[in-house]
Amino acid sequence: MYRVAVVGALGAVGTEMIKTLEDRNFPISTLIPMDIPEMAGKKVRYRGGEVEVRAAGKGAFKDVDIALFSAGADASLVLAPIAASEGAIVVDNSSAWRMDPGVPLVVPEVNPDAVDAHKGIIANPNCSTIQMLVACKPLHDAYKIKRIVVSTYQAVSGGGGPAMRELAAQAGQYARGEEIKVSVFPRQILFNAIPHIDVFVDNGYTKEEMKMVHETHKIMDPAVEVSPTAVRVGVFRGHSESINIETEKPIDLAEAKRLLEKAPGVKLMDDPSRLLYPTALDCDGQDAVFVGRLRTDPTVPNGLNMWVVSDNLRKGAALNAVQIGELLVKKGLKPRKL
Ligand SMILES: NC(=O)c1ccc[n+]([C@@H]2O[C@H](COP(=O)([O-])OP(=O)(O)OC[C@H]3O[C@@H](n4cnc5c(N)ncnc54)[C@H](OP(=O)(O)O)[C@@H]3O)[C@@H](O)[C@H]2O)c1
Repeated sequence: MYRVAVVGALGAVGTEMIKTLEDRNFPISTLIPMDIPEMAGKKVRYRGGEVEVRAAGKGAFKDVDIALFSAGADASLVLAPIAASEGAIVVDNSSAWRMDPGVPLVVPEVNPDAVDAHKGIIANPNCSTIQMLVACKPLHDAYKIKRIVVSTYQAVSGGGGPAMRELAAQAGQYARGEEIKVSVFPRQILFNAIPHIDVFVDNGYTKEEMKMVHETHKIMDPAVEVSPTAVRVGVFRGHSESINIETEKPIDLAEAKRLLEKAPGVKLMDDPSRLLYPTALDCDGQDAVFVGRLRTDPTVPNGLNMWVVSDNLRKGAALNAVQIGELLVKKGLKPRKL
């Protein structure tokens, strides 16, 4: 049994992490929720009771086996090395460590053995990358993907608690006929689609888009080209992605469906005759990456289109981190002797 800390425990992902640990019956002897010092002493709900929040900081990790971090990149840059130096293994949800060559970046369905190289910190990929790669990996193994063109339709919860509160507030303002106030997003997000997530970088793409490129190379294959467009939409929970792949080998559509049907972490939901395809609302609170609308692309020699939806707070963040913890346990991690 392990002592597990959740850092950023009062946030959107932290809350989901605690729920996911509970749902999956992770072998926990003590849950240690942590947040900013001002929140120390607050309570979080866990297994029918309440657990007090500890201030994250120097000395806080001395009794921790695994620390699941979801407190943002600034906090992770400072706190993850402290936690690792105090003997905890960090699974970090932020972008802080993902591209560090000494830090494994892991999707358990895609590159589970990468965890073996960790030196105290393991990174959880970006939510959009995770669901894209869970769906692409079985097709890459069978047909060798050369290029991915992806457009995302990302929920506001990807921006955390403040972003969710802004969409809810704008819905209330609209219903009451009030002026709609904008602060978290660059435009009104209610009834809108904004092609801008994170900051713009020199090549005209956004940082969110470039994360999908670089993380795909690190996790799955540096030879796969990725052409991304990331869009925020007025949805609370669940990212959707339109994915077009071009492969080296010819794709047999029926076989591709069979491969996805048995792929770990994937749920095929694809029968247009019965209007069966995934939407964000269908996937709310679910663990799987849902795939539908599979069609061969007749405009290229070997191509396929698909629609991929997953709960960004669950597989896109909390579940993937907890699965990395499960991998560590499976690979023989011993609880520390204090
Ligand atoms: N939401 C997603 O879909 C998603 C997916 C993948 C990865 N992530 C990543 O996960 C991280 C958290 O995201 P979120 O959506 O949960 O954001 P959030 O709702 O804003 O939650 C962040 C939590 O961390 C706390 N925090 C901030 N600084 C801290 C510190 N120094 N020590 C301890 N706690 C601290 C915050 O407290 P205050 O609010 O009081 O500052 C808040 O409770 C981000 O790096 C994000 O990029 C999110």
